[in-house]
Amino acid sequence: MNSGIENTQHPSIIYYDSDYPSEKYSKYKNNFDEIVISQGLSNDVEKYNNLAKQFGSNVLELCCGTGRVAIPLAENGNDVTAVDFSSTLLQQFQNKIKQLNNKISNRLKIINQDVTKLSLEKKDYDLIICAFNSLLCIPDFELQQKTLINAAKHIRTKGLLALDLMNPLVLSIAGDETPIPFFTRKNPHNGNIYTRFAARSKMMIDQKQKLYGWYDEIEDDGSVKRQNYEVYWRPVFRYEIQLMLEKAGFKIDKIYGGHLDETYTETSGKLFIQAVKL
Ligand SMILES: C[S@@+](CC[C@H](N)C(=O)[O-])C[C@H]1O[C@@H](n2cnc3c(N)ncnc32)[C@H](O)[C@@H]1O
Repeated sequence: MNSGIENTQHPSIIYYDSDYPSEKYSKYKNNFDEIVISQGLSNDVEKYNNLAKQFGSNVLELCCGTGRVAIPLAENGNDVTAVDFSSTLLQQFQNKIKQLNNKISNRLKIINQDVTKLSLEKKDYDLIICAFNSLLCIPDFELQQKTLINAAKHIRTKGLLALDLMNPLVLSIAGDETPIPFFTRKNPHNGNIYTRFAARSKMMIDQKQKLYGWYDEIEDDGSVKRQNYEVYWRPVFRYEIQLMLEKAGFKIDKIYGGHLDETYTETSGKLFIQAVKL
């Protein structure tokens, strides 16, 4: 089962680079605001750069989106293969690459594939990353497991898999009553101001949650354009991911509560996993 974002008409794709802005490459710097910290988007690029220094510069990024992480990793001297299955997001990624100098763009390889069926020529990456809740955006247990097995097929022995997951213990399993204003930002395509209203449904029997709401964008003539959205994710728990990783051939090496190697506790925003390929 796919999350819904693969649909090229999905409104989240239009707002993607402002909903999840890059610290360095945001068109409007004020889109990278304090909400970004609560979303868990700050300091992750630095964390991945440090892991690449430790484990090696051949990096595979699963579910890369528009290159928020892959581009700065390449700028830092890493060779990055970046995979996603949304052609619209990958097109935005390609557009950004055109602005880079050749030395950096030559280090980036973009591949349009579904990571649940991943098959690449190179099988010995040093580091595989799945940033910002991307594994959870595959809202099906079997497909999440397949993705981890596919990661194991593309990494060298003792290579590292880094998974940035939301800590499920801070989620409301009962869900929200109604969407409420989440943030107000600038649409990176036209500069219009929009507000995203967001809510989560109660967690379902298969551990899925619907993430839904709408975007209200103020048009040039002052009218408000409303676009509803609906996607699914499937949070995973700490010992669940341990068993899933073991089944795929990995062993957890470290667990952190954030990108600055904070201790993982029941109130951490993150469940950041570093697992080594056996
Ligand atoms: C939350 S976004 C994260 C994007 C990027 N990693 C970042 O940190 O900015 C999740 C991404 O996963 C991609 N995705 C979801 N399911 C996928 C699948 N089965 N195969 C490939 N990409 C997938 C989506 O298209 C989207 O770009």
